Amino acid sequence: MTGAAGQVGTELVPALRSVYGESSVLATDVREPQPDLRGEGPWLRMDCMDAHAIARAVRQHEADTIYHLAALLSARGEDDPQRAYALNMGSLYNVLEVSRETGCALFAPSSIAVFGPGTPPDPAPQDTVLRPTTMYGVTKVAGELLCDYYAARFGVDARGVRYPGLISHVAQPGGGTTDYAVEIFYAAVESGAYTCFLSAETQLDMMYMPDAIRAAMEVMEADGSRLKHRNAFNVTAMQLTPKSLAESLRRHLPEFRMSYRVDPARQAIAESWPRRIDDTAARDEWGWRAEYDQERMTAEMLEHLTRKLRET
Ligand SMILES: NC(=O)c1ccc[n+]([C@@H]2O[C@H](COP(=O)([O-])OP(=O)(O)OC[C@H]3O[C@@H](n4cnc5c(N)ncnc54)[C@H](O)[C@@H]3O)[C@@H](O)[C@H]2O)c1
Repeated sequence: MTGAAGQVGTELVPALRSVYGESSVLATDVREPQPDLRGEGPWLRMDCMDAHAIARAVRQHEADTIYHLAALLSARGEDDPQRAYALNMGSLYNVLEVSRETGCALFAPSSIAVFGPGTPPDPAPQDTVLRPTTMYGVTKVAGELLCDYYAARFGVDARGVRYPGLISHVAQPGGGTTDYAVEIFYAAVESGAYTCFLSAETQLDMMYMPDAIRAAMEVMEADGSRLKHRNAFNVTAMQLTPKSLAESLRRHLPEFRMSYRVDPARQAIAESWPRRIDDTAARDEWGWRAEYDQERMTAEMLEHLTRKLRET
C-alpha cells in the first residue's frame, strides 16, 4: 500500500492484515506512521514518485495487489496545484506501469471531486459529465481514464471507487473540503463549540470510515465477470449539511454551539460538487451497501473520540 500513513491507509492496513495475515500487507509512505498506529506488520519508507522503488518493493515482497492511496487532496491541492498534478498523476502512472509489468491488481480510489458544476447535482449518475474545477478533480478524472485504459489495453485489473468525504476518528484528514465533518467532532468533545468553514446548508455525500474500508476490500474481492464498470464506482452512505450534523451532535451534547466563518475557496469547491450521488451501479454490480447512517456514525464517533481524548 502506498500512502499508508494517511487517513484511509491507517485503517485499511489493519483491516487487510486481519483478513490476509499480518505479514501479508506491506505499508509504505514517505512519512513515518504515528508510532501508536504503526502496527506489527512490515513497513517501508517509500516515495511513490520513484517507480523503481515501487517495482523493487513489489518483487521483494511478492505482492499481488497494490492499494495506491498516496495523493494530495482537494483543498491542499488548490494551495499547490503544481504539486497536486505531479504527485497524483506521476504516482498513479508509476503504480499502473508496475502493475502492468508485474501483473498486480490495483486499487486506485477516485473521489466525488471528479464532478463539476455541469454534473446533474441530485443525484449525480454513475456515467455523467466530468468537468471538475479543481486540480485534484482534474487528476482524479484523468486517473479514472488511465485506469480504464490500462485495463482495456494491458489487462491490468485496476479497480476503484469514488469516495465521498470520509469521516474517521483514528487518523486526521489530509486537507480535503469535507474535513469539517471530522473537525467538528474533535471540537465538540474538546471545547463544545465549532466554527465551520462551509455554510450551514452545503450538502455533500459522506461516509464513515468502516464503510469506506469495506468498500475498498469488497470491490477488490468482487467477481470480475460481474463488473461492468470495474473502476470509479460511485459509493455513498449519507448526505450531510453542517447544520444537520450540528443537530445530530446536539442530541448527544445539547450545549454544543456551531458558528460559521465561510472559507470562500473551500465553499467554492463544495458548491461545484453534487448534493447526492447515485451508487446504484456499485449496488448492482458488487452488492455495495453502506452500514452507517448519520445517526449511527455520530454516536460511534462521539463514543470513540470521547474515550481517545480522555486517554491523551
Ligand atoms: N479522505 C477523504 O475524504 C477522501 C475522499 C475521496 C477520495 N479520497 C482518496 O483516497 C485516497 C487516500 O486518501 P487519504 O484521505 O488517506 O489521504 P491523506 O492525505 O490522509 O494520505 C495520503 C498519504 O500519502 C502520502 N504521500 C504523499 N506523497 C507521497 C509520496 N510521494 N510517496 C508516498 N506517499 C506519499 C502522505 O504522506 C499521506 O500519508 C486518495 O487517493 C484520496 O484522493 C479520500
